[in-house]
Amino acid sequence: MAILKPYKLSLLMILGFSMTSVAEPIDEMCSPCVCVSSDERALYNVDCRFNKNLEGRLPEFKDINESKIRSLNMSGTSLYNLKNQTQTPFEFYSNLQELDLFNTSINLSKNNSATVNSETFKGLEKLAVLNIAHNEQFPVTSETDSNVFKRLTSLKKLIMYQINLIPSGNMSYPSQILRYFLTLEEIWIDGFSVLPFGTEFLSMPNLTVIRISGDLIRPIWQDQDFCYMQNINDNTFANLLFVRNLSILNCGVKTISRYAFINTKSLRMLDLSMNYELGLGELDGLRSLNSGLEVLIMDSLTHPNKLECPNRIMKSTVELIKHITALKMVSLDYNKISEIDKDAFEIIPESLEHLRVRRNKFELGYYLLYASRMKNLRKLEASFTHMDLQFSVLNDNLEFKHPQMYQYNNITLAHKNVNSLSLSNENNSYIGHHKDLDCPKSLLYFIPTVVITAFIPPKLEYLDISHSKIGFPIYDFYIDSNNSLKTVIASNSLLYCWDGPVHGLHNIEMIDLSNNFCSNVNENFFTSILKLKRLHIQRNYLHLVVAYKKIFQSNSELEYIDLSINRINNIHPQLFKHQNKLKWLNLSMNNLMVVDYTISHMQLLRVLNLSDNHITTLSKEFRSDLEGIVSSRNKITLTVDLTNNVISCSCDNLDVLEWILEHTYPTSSLLILKMTTCYYTHNISSGLPLPVLIRSKADMYFQVSFLQKFCLSYTPLLISMVVLLIFIMNVIIGAIIHRFRWKIRYWYYVGNNKEASVNGYTSIEASLRFQRFKYDIYLAYEEDAHEFVLETLRPKLVELDYVVFVHDDILEGLPLCNVLTKSIHASRVVVFVLSNGSRESLEWKIAAHMTNEESNHRGKPIALAMFYDSNSTRALPEGLQVLRRDAFIDYPANGSEDEYTAFFEDFKAKVKIIMNTTF
Ligand SMILES: *[C@@H]1O[C@H](CO)[C@@H](O)[C@H](O)[C@H]1NC(C)=O
Ligand SMILES: *[C@@H]1O[C@H](CO)[C@@H](O)[C@H](O)[C@H]1NC(C)=O
Ligand SMILES: *[C@@H]1O[C@H](CO)[C@@H](O)[C@H](O)[C@H]1NC(C)=O
Ligand SMILES: *[C@@H]1O[C@H](CO)[C@@H](O)[C@H](O)[C@H]1NC(C)=O
Ligand SMILES: *[C@@H]1O[C@H](CO)[C@@H](O)[C@H](O)[C@H]1NC(C)=O
Ligand SMILES: *[C@@H]1O[C@H](CO)[C@@H](O)[C@H](O)[C@H]1NC(C)=O
Ligand SMILES: *[C@@H]1O[C@H](CO)[C@@H](O)[C@H](O)[C@H]1NC(C)=O
Repeated sequence: MAILKPYKLSLLMILGFSMTSVAEPIDEMCSPCVCVSSDERALYNVDCRFNKNLEGRLPEFKDINESKIRSLNMSGTSLYNLKNQTQTPFEFYSNLQELDLFNTSINLSKNNSATVNSETFKGLEKLAVLNIAHNEQFPVTSETDSNVFKRLTSLKKLIMYQINLIPSGNMSYPSQILRYFLTLEEIWIDGFSVLPFGTEFLSMPNLTVIRISGDLIRPIWQDQDFCYMQNINDNTFANLLFVRNLSILNCGVKTISRYAFINTKSLRMLDLSMNYELGLGELDGLRSLNSGLEVLIMDSLTHPNKLECPNRIMKSTVELIKHITALKMVSLDYNKISEIDKDAFEIIPESLEHLRVRRNKFELGYYLLYASRMKNLRKLEASFTHMDLQFSVLNDNLEFKHPQMYQYNNITLAHKNVNSLSLSNENNSYIGHHKDLDCPKSLLYFIPTVVITAFIPPKLEYLDISHSKIGFPIYDFYIDSNNSLKTVIASNSLLYCWDGPVHGLHNIEMIDLSNNFCSNVNENFFTSILKLKRLHIQRNYLHLVVAYKKIFQSNSELEYIDLSINRINNIHPQLFKHQNKLKWLNLSMNNLMVVDYTISHMQLLRVLNLSDNHITTLSKEFRSDLEGIVSSRNKITLTVDLTNNVISCSCDNLDVLEWILEHTYPTSSLLILKMTTCYYTHNISSGLPLPVLIRSKADMYFQVSFLQKFCLSYTPLLISMVVLLIFIMNVIIGAIIHRFRWKIRYWYYVGNNKEASVNGYTSIEASLRFQRFKYDIYLAYEEDAHEFVLETLRPKLVELDYVVFVHDDILEGLPLCNVLTKSIHASRVVVFVLSNGSRESLEWKIAAHMTNEESNHRGKPIALAMFYDSNSTRALPEGLQVLRRDAFIDYPANGSEDEYTAFFEDFKAKVKIIMNTTF
């Protein structure tokens, strides 16, 4: 059963680990083989299976004495040299109780070193179990030397199938040999039809188990070479007075005669499985079975690969076993049974407790209602059935009243369902209306409520109908309340919609509805199942159901819920509100990101499986809930499985990680958390968060202490890093800006000439846009040269046909820098009038720097320096300070008329040179 699987697995792993760690030194002791285990008397169980290093002999142990071996498994090795060194290879195995010589090529032919003779088994006086199966060269027949086994005086179980090749002519049971085995209790043997079991069996009162093992012949197509009984006649079992368990498996039995079992008075179990030609029809021999028989197994009496009509179990068939008043169990697996005659239920022995009818072809039909006649039936296994609707039901209009056709064939109804379903998918308005969606009601399958009350066998406790292609919704229906049903296994049966409620199941404790593709559950489906303890509903599509419906409201006895693999990403906060007795909650393999439902009331919780979800952290409430649970009780652990989640290894989550570390196994705490990975999210540059494997507490400790160190310096570090960064950036940007301040301004203003006219006034720069040079000469001067420039210099230059720009042209209020820069940009030549003044004015500075930028931009000098009242080039921009010599010109401040004329000629020439220079 899959219920305990994760738990068992982990248990096994724990056991496995502890075993290997203890077993390791033992392992080597048994070299060249492997010690499997040792018992309290220090006897070893040695495993030499398929060992290639034995050179056809028994192993020679270096560290242990043969007498210390309790069981020896030699299967799959070839003992072709068994007696190469000694005639008595087993002599020192004085304590050997179990010897497995399966498929070891031991040989009964003369003069071979693998030959077994009367001396070979010397020393095996205590041997209880001997397996010599699958040794075709070792035929044990009536002609075999009877001394071979005479040493085995304690043998209880002899396994010797696939030994007697039937076509070779050896066709009888080895009576002389078996005479020696007075102690024998169980034998597995080949089957023959020519000779019956001999009279030696009359003197073997302790031989109670005979297993004719045609099912174990390998390869399977050789089965009829070793097991072929064909006809069981009245004599075949005549001497088996003492046999209790008789199995004749896959042995080609075709007929069983009328009185075949007349002498087998002790028979309690008869297994006739896999005799494919026997069929369910010709079983007359069953009449002679003694009434004390308890178990009758007749699986696969029809050939699985043959195309045949399905079988009906008729009343006449059941009559054959009617007299067996002790019959407790009947198995009819794999028999293509489609139906059981309803009258047959009347004569089924009342003692029947367990009916197994798996892998048949049952159809849903009325006969099922008669199953309740089996008064003592406790267990019914009907899994792997293709539950088709019986044809007769469809035609049977008299007994079965269909509901009105339109009601269930209404397309608008179907559409409504579809719409509301997708609606609830898209937005969460579903919470608002509690009206449940109905399961689709098919015309053919739907059985309206109250029409039929199902009667089930009154003592039936266990019902398994799993792996059956039922494919119907579970509707609201009534089961007669006189029932004992405790367990229902209905997994893997395409029960895709659970409408219910199913009434009358007041004893039920365990339900398995896993893997049914179910997405729709009525909120009341489980309400009438008050005693429910275990619920397996994993592998469905219940994510919407658990998000919006409180389906477990009445199930306060629940101890185990498996909701794994249901695509759950959200759980209704009240879903588990009444589960005070819950011990085991499995929510693994879903899409949960947070655990926000409260669990504090689950005081008995032992395992909370949240593995394989998308959980990043654990809330404070959840942690204190867990701690609250363990602190309120004594010595009971609570395990929370967080493996394969995306727990974050970050400073924000450090307190959670520390908390998990504290509760990581091994821990003194009763709360145990398991975690296998955490994700580092700090290193954003690497794209996806990096998973870190955590295999042990040490790993966990390492991660936590790393984070502790990292995060301790993290906050101050972060702040100082940011401050430092800002500071450095400032300095760098400041430096860059300072270094290129004029270039930046230049480009800013020259580039930024997009102003439109304001109130009809077109700014200078706006008009500059239309021609490259608006001015011939730009005059830069200081305040003290103001008068000279405006009254003397400019009129003279205008007279010489230059278009001149002077600072005083700038209207008050215009952005100075902007206008200056663009004016320089639009002037062919800039003339600096060097006076004695301070040269500190803004206009001067801007002009000086921008001229420099402009001439860099044009790739040629554009400036002239005119000494008006000064000898100094101080406060010229750096570029201009190294002007070519001929870029300086002296104004004759108090000169004669000729000097003025000469000066302006010179000036004109210099301007012309600048204008005409191209680089
Ligand atoms: C094994 O023990 C037996 C007695 O128990 C002894 O006679 C025999 O010599 C021992 N064999 C080896 C190989 O020590
Ligand atoms: C010996 O090994 C075979 C092959 O694995 C196995 O089937 C058999 O059960 C083993 N026998 C014993 C006695 O353990
Ligand atoms: C028997 O052993 C041989 C080799 O020793 C191997 O090939 C064969 O598969 C074995 N048969 C069975 C049934 O284990
Ligand atoms: C078997 O033993 C004989 C001597 O008794 C030896 O000559 C032969 O080599 C052995 N065979 C093998 C395969 O070890
Ligand atoms: C058994 O012995 C006979 C006779 O020595 C030999 O022919 C045969 O090959 C042997 N079989 C095996 C499996 O060793
Ligand atoms: C048969 O079994 C009984 C009880 O287990 C026992 O007392 C008796 O000795 C056995 N008979 C033989 C021949 O081993
Ligand atoms: C479908 O059902 C509605 C009422 O539920 C009814 O009014 C309508 O006529 C039905 N449509 C058909 C096609 O039967």
